[in-house]
Amino acid sequence: MTFALTPERERELVEILARYPTEHSKMAACIPALHLCQDQIGWCSDEVVTFVASRLDLPAAHVKGVVTFYSLFNQRPVGKHQLWVCRTLPCALRGAGEVLAHCEKRLGIKAGETTADGAITLRTAECLASCSTAPMIQVDKVYHENLSLPQVDTILDRLQKG
Ligand code: FES
Repeated sequence: MTFALTPERERELVEILARYPTEHSKMAACIPALHLCQDQIGWCSDEVVTFVASRLDLPAAHVKGVVTFYSLFNQRPVGKHQLWVCRTLPCALRGAGEVLAHCEKRLGIKAGETTADGAITLRTAECLASCSTAPMIQVDKVYHENLSLPQVDTILDRLQKG
């Protein structure tokens, strides 16, 4: 099935492309263009890769390479919400392992999986650049920092209620 952006996102794409007018700079537009597509359907399908390659006049292999290199691009469908637990050393030293184990137990899934109701995909992340407020998680595009397990429960309660 062919991918197309909504009219509003199409306007955003045109603005993005205007910022990268030269042949060489078009490659830099790849990441914001992919984010735009992922925001619409939740992941970067093969149709998205083809769409972005076509609009940026880049080889599909280049666009696919970007999708597979960056962990923030989803290579398969994901839940309505994505919960990333940072597990790099500063967060690990301040309880990231317990946070992850708690999320896995509460949600009944392992990292990398999605709850049966499609509500939450649990992921791990390398440093999200908020080490001074470890342990931290990212839910969709929002950081939650200096977490205790009761605070994690509050976040999960909210996400599970939709
Ligand atoms: S180690 Fe977790 S934000 Fe840097």
